[in-house]
Amino acid sequence: MISFAGFRKRDWVIEPLGRADAPAMAAVHNEGFARPWNDGEFAALLAQTPVFGFAARREGEGGGPLSGFVLARLAAGEAEILTIAVAKSARRGGVGRRLMDAVLLRLHADRAEAVFLEVDERNAPALALYRRLGFREVGKRPGYYAERKGEPASTALVMRRDLR
Ligand SMILES: CC(C)(COP(=O)(O)OP(=O)(O)OC[C@H]1O[C@@H](n2cnc3c(N)ncnc32)[C@H](O)[C@@H]1OP(=O)(O)O)[C@@H](O)C(=O)NCCC(=O)NCCS
Repeated sequence: MISFAGFRKRDWVIEPLGRADAPAMAAVHNEGFARPWNDGEFAALLAQTPVFGFAARREGEGGGPLSGFVLARLAAGEAEILTIAVAKSARRGGVGRRLMDAVLLRLHADRAEAVFLEVDERNAPALALYRRLGFREVGKRPGYYAERKGEPASTALVMRRDLR
């Protein structure tokens, strides 16, 4: 594993997540998902050795509030994107792309072979982001996302990107 120093691109700072970020992660996640994870769940995930992630904050003195984050897990050469979320006010500004780039860079450095993720087939923004990054569909899980609030159940697409 490498130690990953934060790096900068334009007005965003991308840096490793810490356990203190858990409450802010829950707040951002709540804006993006019908079934948000709570801060205890994020703290527990961040305590697991194979789990890592990155935060995006607006550049400025002393850092700023969390604008987005990504969580991933790497074990036995295969990685999984556990979740990614960008605050509504920060979307379409390149934050999601930069967070994913940070994960891919880290996985290359760690010599991972492939990275997988699951995405709702109706989630057009996320699908567009992943396809742009070279993820390709390798499977389907019909009914993976259960019916909720009048929305019918939907299919999860399993996507993969080779890293070698
Ligand atoms: C998916 C998500 C993380 C994208 O974050 P973002 O910061 O808005 O994405 P970016 O601005 O970096 O966009 C990168 C690329 O993704 C695609 N994209 C992002 N949002 C899009 C949208 N609303 N419609 C179409 N394409 C979109 C585009 O290809 C875009 O590149 P472009 O701006 O050059 O066209 C964000 O919409 C989000 O948090 N959604 C709710 C949570 C979620 O669905 N997470 C993924 C679950 S699998």
